[in-house]
Amino acid sequence: MTGSSAPTQSPARLVVVLSGRGRNLAALIEAIDTGRLDARIVLVVSNRLDARGLRIARLAGLPCAAIDSSAFSVREDFDRALAARIEGAAPDWVLLAGYMRILSSAFVQRFADRLINIHPSLLPRHPGLHTHARALEAGDARHGATVHFVIPELDAGPPIRQASIAVRPDDTASELAERLMVRVEQRLYAKAVGDLVSGRVQLREGVVWRDGRIQEHCPNEDHDPIASS
Ligand code: GRF
Repeated sequence: MTGSSAPTQSPARLVVVLSGRGRNLAALIEAIDTGRLDARIVLVVSNRLDARGLRIARLAGLPCAAIDSSAFSVREDFDRALAARIEGAAPDWVLLAGYMRILSSAFVQRFADRLINIHPSLLPRHPGLHTHARALEAGDARHGATVHFVIPELDAGPPIRQASIAVRPDDTASELAERLMVRVEQRLYAKAVGDLVSGRVQLREGVVWRDGRIQEHCPNEDHDPIASS
């Protein structure tokens, strides 16, 4: 990453890329509709034709595209097709929201500094899959989510914002995942994108700046500071 994230026009143009349920997409739509996020979703694109997120997008009247990744045998070919479709929508920001494929480094470079992801763990803890089960196995007292810039290395890009909840002694992975989605993820993404579109947060030469200063510590909001059983 060598450049800087550019100032954004108002309302910012967002492309959302997903594979699945689209609960983060739904939360972004709500944040825009209620005036909490000054942005416009100009395209929702899925690599799965049957993604529930596409149905949510259609119901909201958003432009949609589906490019079936299973029809491509070479990852780079699929990523080129995806990139062309995204570029056609002229986005300021490209938001991965439950996109379940590893991106080629050429794709990441093409959208460098404007490619964002939400990951369900307090990175750098638990990159990759099965984060909720791994947080339980590790005995973590808190679990959370991170919105971060995307770099070619998986889940390793500079963080923008985090938020967390207490892990309960009797939590199962699916209960923890659900609570994290409802209490944390569905607010966190819109908030972090708000930081970007307002220009409060910028990436300069791979370093996150917030309010004109280097962001030494990523903001981490506690959503329920006291663990309850
Ligand atoms: C979320 O947990 C997100 O953090 C992760 O994938 C999941 C997507 O859920 N990257 P949804 O498709 O937004 O409902």
